[in-house]
Amino acid sequence: MKINSTPYRTIWPTADNAAVEIIDQTKLPHIFTTLRLETMRDAERAIRDMQVRGAPLIGVTGAYGVALSMKHHASDAALKASCDKLLLARPTAVNLRWGVERMRAFLALLPESDRAAAAWQEAARIADEDVEINASIGRHGSEFIRAMHEKKTSTVNILTHCNAGWLATVDWGTALAPIYTAFDAGIPLHVWVDETRPRNQGASLTAWELGQHGVPHTVIADNTGGHLMQHGMVDMAIVGTDRVTARGDVCNKIGTYLKALAAFDNGVPFYVALPTPTIDWTLQDGVKEIPIEERAAEEVTHISGLCDDGQVRTVRLTPENSRAANYGFDVTPARLVTGLITERGVVQADAGAMQVLR
Ligand code: MRU
Repeated sequence: MKINSTPYRTIWPTADNAAVEIIDQTKLPHIFTTLRLETMRDAERAIRDMQVRGAPLIGVTGAYGVALSMKHHASDAALKASCDKLLLARPTAVNLRWGVERMRAFLALLPESDRAAAAWQEAARIADEDVEINASIGRHGSEFIRAMHEKKTSTVNILTHCNAGWLATVDWGTALAPIYTAFDAGIPLHVWVDETRPRNQGASLTAWELGQHGVPHTVIADNTGGHLMQHGMVDMAIVGTDRVTARGDVCNKIGTYLKALAAFDNGVPFYVALPTPTIDWTLQDGVKEIPIEERAAEEVTHISGLCDDGQVRTVRLTPENSRAANYGFDVTPARLVTGLITERGVVQADAGAMQVLR
């Protein structure tokens, strides 16, 4: 994707291969700044503090975290300690486990002396694969947008939740990849962007990256989607996911389930775009089995924004003594999902149909 006409990925190795750089997503949309990660602990902190976020990017950052640790200590004990530490950074996106365990399995077979160089190459391979996977999701998913356009012969209105775009991956995004692909092919479309309280990934990140690409969009308060669907103003919803179970239950940013319910009630197709590493084949019942991250109450009680003097400030929203709960994700049962858009094609969200993805 391009920022002010310059092509960027969200994570890349420095020219001397001594570190990786990331875009600090906690500063967007008001400040574009990059950060240098030099150690495994830097990578772990970047994931935990959400300087990088989004399931696929968390997975790639975890992989680079292992690679950074191998530069300093490449023993079996160091490999285990690094992997174990990184896995604790955030609980819900299974891509972190996928990326770290892939690195662990690959490196465990190598002599210590080879591990640093090999780890760097393997992390870069994972990053490159993510770009390929998302481009493919874009091609498959854009067919639905094209078909909708051919049917209605006017602008296709798509609702999305959170940020499952370029910023949530290495490039392209998952839910936004079909949108970019269709837009680039000249299909007229418009995106309803859920603000996505409490961290506002929609208002801050999705709106920013769609704007950078020139895609028409409108930010809406989180509770607006149902009303729009009742009035025929949404042709389809496309969201990303942090973990899909073997039977097709979909875990994604808090509020996704309510959008899926509203879509179901109004006959609006509800698609979930994902790279296949987001499927957790060890789980069935997403509601009971997927660990849901709970974050600090301050993310609910406070909000940050750009003040008229050009400074970004944080202010309190709630009474001082009110408690707040901050559940990061919810689970949408498979029955509410119209289709899973993967890099290998589109499948029904059910155990039998998903076997082709194993
Ligand atoms: O808490 P976040 O910002 O990491 O949550 C991100 C999401 O919920 C995305 O929708 C999901 O990771 C899919 S990203 C392609």
